[in-house]
Amino acid sequence: MNRLEGKRVLVTGAASGIGQATALRLLDEGAIVVASDVAEGGLDATRVRADEAATAGRLTTMPMDVGNEGSVIDGVSLAVETLGGLDSLVNAAGILRAAHTHQTSLELWNQIVGVNLTGTFLVVREALPALLANPRSAIVNFSSTSASFAHPYMAAYAASKGGIQAFTHSLALEYARDGLRAVCVAPGSIKSGITDATGGYIPKDADWTLFSRLMPILPTTVESSGTGMADPSVVAGVIAMLVSEDGAFITGTEIRIDGGTHA
Ligand SMILES: NC(=O)c1ccc[n+]([C@@H]2O[C@H](COP(=O)([O-])OP(=O)(O)OC[C@H]3O[C@@H](n4cnc5c(N)ncnc54)[C@H](O)[C@@H]3O)[C@@H](O)[C@H]2O)c1
Repeated sequence: MNRLEGKRVLVTGAASGIGQATALRLLDEGAIVVASDVAEGGLDATRVRADEAATAGRLTTMPMDVGNEGSVIDGVSLAVETLGGLDSLVNAAGILRAAHTHQTSLELWNQIVGVNLTGTFLVVREALPALLANPRSAIVNFSSTSASFAHPYMAAYAASKGGIQAFTHSLALEYARDGLRAVCVAPGSIKSGITDATGGYIPKDADWTLFSRLMPILPTTVESSGTGMADPSVVAGVIAMLVSEDGAFITGTEIRIDGGTHA
């Protein structure tokens, strides 16, 4: 399918998990992609997979730390220059840390909010002039099921994702008449760097029964894992739809992709 032929897209957090799967899916559909991340080794892995798919000719990888304003200013400018403009932006970069809320330091709170919420704002702010230069453009931001449904020990993360949701709704109205759409995906239970590491962050004295509400009702699409975690490609395909003309009438909302966890 070549829904995105010639479309110029910047993807953050593209060294791993959902961001990497999204960059590869957009390339598969014909897009020209700048894949950015702080993890340069992971970006090399993204390039190897694009090579295997014979799409690497349309891929540029680029280090960018969304938690650092200077890095975002330089990075987005370089991405726009490399692509010769920008049609869509996918903000997948994010971190998850867990702690009892009464034991969450201000430093930890600021780290999580700084990368997830402030990082999303910074990349959007820097990308908007290039996006608005087109008659139609799209932003996909990453919320999470934790924005709307309780996730224990993850209050800072959930607050950052709720903030992204609210931010995205405001963007949608502010720029609708300029042809810009702004949408969130709200994934849950996707196998990735974040979910592989979550167990290590949960407090040792956590009440694990609280997580019984967070199980998908659909069988996993990762046949070998049996853990209920789905492959990142289930989110990547939805993002490809959202940035394509198939998503032309979707803005100011979030699409939950969680295997029915909160059905
Ligand atoms: N996996 C899930 O079930 C799930 C659920 C809800 C939301 N999400 C969101 O999906 C997005 C992608 O995460 P994932 O699950 O694929 O995890 P992941 O850890 O595999 O990918 C996250 C990527 O973000 C990058 N990153 C972290 N800090 C960065 C920074 N300061 N600047 C640039 N890049 C940075 C990491 O290096 C990594 O490559 C995140 O925003 C996450 O919060 C994931």
